Amino acid sequence: MEQYIIKGGNPLVGEVDISGAKNAALAILAAAIMTDETVVVDNLPDVRDINVLLQAIEGIGAIVERVNRHCVKINASTISSTRVDYEYIRKIRASYYLLGALTGRFHEAQVALPGGCDIGTRPIDQHIKGFKALGVQVTIEHGMIMTNAEQLEGNHIYLDVVSVGATINVMLAAALADGATIIENAAKEPHVVDVANMLNSMGANIKGAGTDVIRIKGVKDLHKTEYSVIPDQIEAGTFMFAAAATNGNVLVKNVIPKHLEAITAKLLEIGCAIEEYDDAVRVIGTEQLKSTQVKTLPYPGYPTDMQPQIAVTLAISQGTSIVTESIFENRFKYIAELVRMGANIKVEGNTAIIEGVSHLTGAEINAPDLRAGAALVIAGLAAEGFTLIDDIVYIQRGYENFEGKLAGLGANIEKVTTEKDVQKFKLKVS
Ligand code: EPZ
Repeated sequence: MEQYIIKGGNPLVGEVDISGAKNAALAILAAAIMTDETVVVDNLPDVRDINVLLQAIEGIGAIVERVNRHCVKINASTISSTRVDYEYIRKIRASYYLLGALTGRFHEAQVALPGGCDIGTRPIDQHIKGFKALGVQVTIEHGMIMTNAEQLEGNHIYLDVVSVGATINVMLAAALADGATIIENAAKEPHVVDVANMLNSMGANIKGAGTDVIRIKGVKDLHKTEYSVIPDQIEAGTFMFAAAATNGNVLVKNVIPKHLEAITAKLLEIGCAIEEYDDAVRVIGTEQLKSTQVKTLPYPGYPTDMQPQIAVTLAISQGTSIVTESIFENRFKYIAELVRMGANIKVEGNTAIIEGVSHLTGAEINAPDLRAGAALVIAGLAAEGFTLIDDIVYIQRGYENFEGKLAGLGANIEKVTTEKDVQKFKLKVS
């Protein structure tokens, strides 16, 4: 089992390149199967979730050709099945985007129902509501969601909760429906916009992505495209907080600064300096970080995927901070690990009350999920002494070469598999 070993204490200094956005890429790869023609997707992050989805796409018969580590060609003219098994859904929830893509193109799909997961129950009722509004019959049997329709008909759909997944899934199906669809109370995340742009580049007619009303005029066919995924604002934000928590000075490159506004605002509030460039952001730390309050919200609010990273940073900031999680009910599991590192945090319901401490100390800890895992790495980088993190497979789902990028900024971090590796690392850095 792979682990990260970290010796904390080094301020992160230098430049880091941000990869393509995982959550945009997942939906874009699903969209790529909606035509018979060849689609090229570039700026893909080389992370586990993307690679599993590509396997699922191959699994239904499409031809997937790796052009290089970050670029893939997909030809879905050979799709022979509209069934996506639990094997893939179990590994990566976002394979449910194949439900929207297959239903849009073939008017039927059978996709395993995603189970509960480590950050909350995560219902998919809004996806189903959207499909039904398009005239699709949806049934759940033997753990599979089955869709079936003679024809998909555009409709007016009001989503009861702002959902990235439901907005994208309905957008995928509606792109090939008869007539017009309006999605109200749509999610406005940058990746929703990226998926709309990609579908439009395939000949779809989607307007309003990025606002809460998306208008889709269904088209008969989609065609080939070459598309480059936007930069990952959550990866960027993670490095920005890593710079803050270690009192570093990092130029985070290949980003869209507009997508980072909520994160930048919080870093300024806690005392960091920020320099913004066209496609880069520099974060300059400070000796004494200050407390703040933050509540996670749909975009353009502060992202839930950046909640653990700010909480770790606030754990070593002066004063009392309040972090409220309003999107997922089970996203504070990492706090127990942070407390083992010396943090003073109490969780009451969906709120964490953080009394800043002067420093954290290294410990053996577990990564409970992707973003919390990345945040615990930040904790290890800021802590005194050695931190050993288990279950880094979660982190590898969404961060390309995380340890390599951090080491490039001067962090003492290595991926290890044996106790011998750990000892070697300790000798090397002592
Ligand atoms: C996406 O998940 C992301 N995943 C998540 O990132 C991210 O945390 C989340 O959006 C919020 O930004 C991908 O893009 C693959 P939602 P998604 O539907 O689409 C409720 C990461 O770390 N809801 O926007 O599943 C839901 O319970 C991952 O990269 C319903 O009630 O999230 C939640 O409270 C983790 N019914 C809220 O809406 C539904 O049918 C927002 O969820 C759908 C959602």
